Amino acid sequence: GITNKKATVLCVGLDNSGKTTVINHFKPPQTKSEEVVPTIGYSVEKFLISRISFTVFDMSGQGRYRNLWEQYYPETEAVIFVIDSSERLRLEVAREELHALLEHPVIKQKRIPICCLANKKDLKDALSDVEIADKMELAEIADDKPYNIFATNARTGEGLDMAMDWLSEQIM
Ligand code: GTP
Ligand code: MG
Repeated sequence: GITNKKATVLCVGLDNSGKTTVINHFKPPQTKSEEVVPTIGYSVEKFLISRISFTVFDMSGQGRYRNLWEQYYPETEAVIFVIDSSERLRLEVAREELHALLEHPVIKQKRIPICCLANKKDLKDALSDVEIADKMELAEIADDKPYNIFATNARTGEGLDMAMDWLSEQIM
């Protein structure tokens, strides 16, 4: 039908991985931020993609705010996990944070899609999506959760439409 579906999405990942830049890409032109700054706490953003009205919790990735993530797990219907593909030294921390989220009792009992973005693919040190999937141990994700990974450049938007199309399909 023509009715819109609603979905609440949690956007997480380490600080500086590009979460706010990703979300900004999907916001309508009038509401787009000119300059993206580090998120303090979190910010709630709304936009429409392929008839789904998304409410996105754009969480801060800074260590001191990461304990806020779990407060939104109860309403989370999909997860976008953003990774800086060029930041090899912190991939281990990113892996730990992703798996801590997946092992959280509230998330564990949900059948929700996990959309990973191997972001900053334009940087010369960037690992490929396949390498990121390996380092992040995505194969360990429980069978009840569909997951996928997309190489993206949030500054240009490259890869983002494919990622959101996939996520939308999982939600529909
Ligand atoms: P926190 O809010 O602190 O958790 O960070 P964040 O994950 O929201 O990162 P943010 O979107 O603020 O981006 C951090 C920096 O990375 C900004 O300077 C962005 O312009 C830059 N950036 C984001 N995506 C890309 C990308 O794909 N390529 C490159 N080269 N830079 C990017
Ligand atoms: Mg941010």
